[in-house]
Amino acid sequence: MRGLVYLPFHASGQGLLCDAVRVQAIVDRVGTPVYVYSAQAIRYAYQAIEAAFAEYPHAIHYALKANSTLAIVRLLRSLGSRADANSGGEVQVALRAGFDPKDIVLTGVGKTRDELELAIAKGIGTINAESAGELDRIAAIAQGMNRVARVALRVNPDIDARTHANISTGLKSNKFGVPLQDARAIYAARRALPGLRFVGVHVHIGSQITSAEPLRRAAGVLVSLAKELAEDGFEIEHIDLGGGLGIAYEGRPLITPKEYAAAVIPELKRLGVPVVLEPGRSVVGHAGALIARVVDTKCAPDGRQFAVLDAGMTELMRPALYGSYHRIVPVMPREGRESAWDVVGPICESSDVFARDRLLPDLAVNDLVAVLDTGAYGAVMASNYNRRMLAPEVLVDETQWTVIRRRQTIDDVLALES
Ligand code: LLP
Repeated sequence: MRGLVYLPFHASGQGLLCDAVRVQAIVDRVGTPVYVYSAQAIRYAYQAIEAAFAEYPHAIHYALKANSTLAIVRLLRSLGSRADANSGGEVQVALRAGFDPKDIVLTGVGKTRDELELAIAKGIGTINAESAGELDRIAAIAQGMNRVARVALRVNPDIDARTHANISTGLKSNKFGVPLQDARAIYAARRALPGLRFVGVHVHIGSQITSAEPLRRAAGVLVSLAKELAEDGFEIEHIDLGGGLGIAYEGRPLITPKEYAAAVIPELKRLGVPVVLEPGRSVVGHAGALIARVVDTKCAPDGRQFAVLDAGMTELMRPALYGSYHRIVPVMPREGRESAWDVVGPICESSDVFARDRLLPDLAVNDLVAVLDTGAYGAVMASNYNRRMLAPEVLVDETQWTVIRRRQTIDDVLALES
């Protein structure tokens, strides 16, 4: 534990443990690369958000995009979570995991007709629309199906979330939502459409946000909009603040769920309607590690040392895509001085690098390393590039562990091809 954060991976005399399970024991049975998750860490993280918002009516809709492996989604459901889906595929996964359609919200900047039909046919709790045009398409499809779609409009408040540019979504230059100042008129112009029922307002300004202020400001403008809509006669049932709460990848103390709640609840109280939260990373991020094997080591003429792993950007894309930092630790304790290593993957791309100049003990071929805090946006962003098979996933629950997704085989991959 660090403060209120439960970190499941820790060193011991028997090597790295995930809760009470030796990572080496998992690798002995399942091989590498493999994603290992702690159920306990997910429970703690979920409950920390739940507890932080206890004083205010709220619903947590876990954002499946962070990690949508069925067993993880089912675990969240068993904790009382609802679901945030970003595609028809994620809606299907949420339904398979047993979620009631009315407990699912669907967001997504380019929903297809098929996805909207699925959502309307199933009676999804709220469709968060991204434009006036999309609202009109939802209205037409719903009317054609003799249904009324429950909708909210995603507004873009032009607030800088102060996070990586690739995961900032609340600036007016971003593709997401409609400009805040247009929202009221868009609702008003569609008030009488028989296929729509406006139940809320939505915002999501970005991910890995590490200060409360942008989140508070976004909540503030959304509540003000909802108040205006209420004055206009709309029955606003909820304010959806999206996700975005960051986690401490580098061990620096960051915003906690409590600080987040303390920042936004005073804003929410100005109207008093329930809040919907869509956390992803903050629920599963710390819970997972990618375990990989060193397959080669070498030295460049300038003295740079490389450790080449059997996992790379195909298993974990974040470092290549965002230059993001993940702690890397050896699975077996190693004595001796640390030196600087470039920890790289096996893919034919120069961006396939997990870490540069990382201080690590001497590494040798066959050593195992763990890339930490990869429970969110790890396995879900994997690909078959270079015809690499998707890694298996293991869920540890205290002293037990289960394979929740087996390793993909070449037959799985080629089954789709003629
Ligand atoms: N709601 C909406 C509408 C979203 O777009 C997202 C994330 C979330 C909720 C969940 O946000 P979270 O609580 O996880 O920050 N692949 C990137 C992150 C992309 C986030 C996309 N949207 C990464 O690895 O950092």
